[in-house]
Amino acid sequence: MKALILAGGTGSRLRPITFTRAKQLVPVANKPILFYAIESIRDAGITDIGVIVGDTADEVMAALGDGSKWGVSITYIPQDAPLGLAHAVKIAEDYMAGDSFVMYLGDNLIANGITALIDEFRAGGCNAQILLAHVPNASQFGVAELAADGTIKRLIEKPVDPPSDLALVGVYLFDSEVFKAVNAIEPSPRGELEITDAIQWLVDNDYTVRPHIITGWWKDTGRLDDMLEANRIMLDMIVSEMHGEVDASTRVHGRVKVGVGTTIVNSVVRGPAVIGEGCVIRDAYIGPYSSIHDGCAVIGSEIEHSILLPRARVENIGRRLADSLMGCDAVVRRADGVPAATRVMLGDKSEVEIV
Ligand code: DAU
Repeated sequence: MKALILAGGTGSRLRPITFTRAKQLVPVANKPILFYAIESIRDAGITDIGVIVGDTADEVMAALGDGSKWGVSITYIPQDAPLGLAHAVKIAEDYMAGDSFVMYLGDNLIANGITALIDEFRAGGCNAQILLAHVPNASQFGVAELAADGTIKRLIEKPVDPPSDLALVGVYLFDSEVFKAVNAIEPSPRGELEITDAIQWLVDNDYTVRPHIITGWWKDTGRLDDMLEANRIMLDMIVSEMHGEVDASTRVHGRVKVGVGTTIVNSVVRGPAVIGEGCVIRDAYIGPYSSIHDGCAVIGSEIEHSILLPRARVENIGRRLADSLMGCDAVVRRADGVPAATRVMLGDKSEVEIV
């Protein structure tokens, strides 16, 4: 069995962060989302992974390399344009060479891994297995309508009026029959080859598609609130590690992970939180669910429930920064002098909420 990770696409809902980086490489608990997918696949015993790459191919390839740091073998499959999830399957046909595979959307996170699901599929009995989860906002996903006997009746991509609250999770298991489906379907009105249409084709043509409703935590990290929630879930699982230097007047509570070369002076750090390498934390409060990446500075300021990407700086701000995501080298600081005005230089699609 092989794996196919989708790491192309545009990431338009996470701009401006995704103007300059692949959405699958945004870190959650200081680790790119994509790395969690690779670890889950590796932990399920799969070592051959095809990775679909688009405009951000160079960045994804630099981050993953040949996969050897995870003990897997990665083959990159370039996709000229984001023409849909079923299109990504279509261009992976040669790579799969008749094998079954798990398709994993690179922006999805599943807290408890996929080993049990892969074992279930490997045990046989179906051509495809889809994962479903009850969600409150089904119209933002592919949605499944099940028949009374629990089999799949209908799949619809992002319906305005969802027939159920069962969303398709971004992990799918297929045998090689799926290639018949992706080669038979036509692009949807939004111009994409939809994986929901391909699975519907399998259902309509009497192939066996087994639904599996998951109860554990799962997230499509397409938006800021989803990223912050994913960050919370992953930080809840961290183990304390102290590799930095902490002075006598600093208090560290709860589970906190601190990287080498980081200094924490006269501050309070309340976990769960992770602070990367080479950071400066001074006269600061780092509250729960903060992920502070390498080279950041938090000075004379309070932050909580936020993600700081490499080298972001928060300096002497008079109020607490919360529920925020700061990009690489982004700065928020107090300015002295007149006029006492808020001055900003914001990139396209940036958002600032002032209270
Ligand atoms: O997260 C689950 C949802 O994922 C499902 O419920 C939907 O049925 C499914 O269509 C998909 O919806 P999204 O709108 O979230 O898909 P998105 O465009 O974000 O693409 C998912 C991942 O696949 C993302 O990492 C980008 C990548 N991708 C996407 C397309 C369209 C590609 O690599 N190539 C593509 O052509």
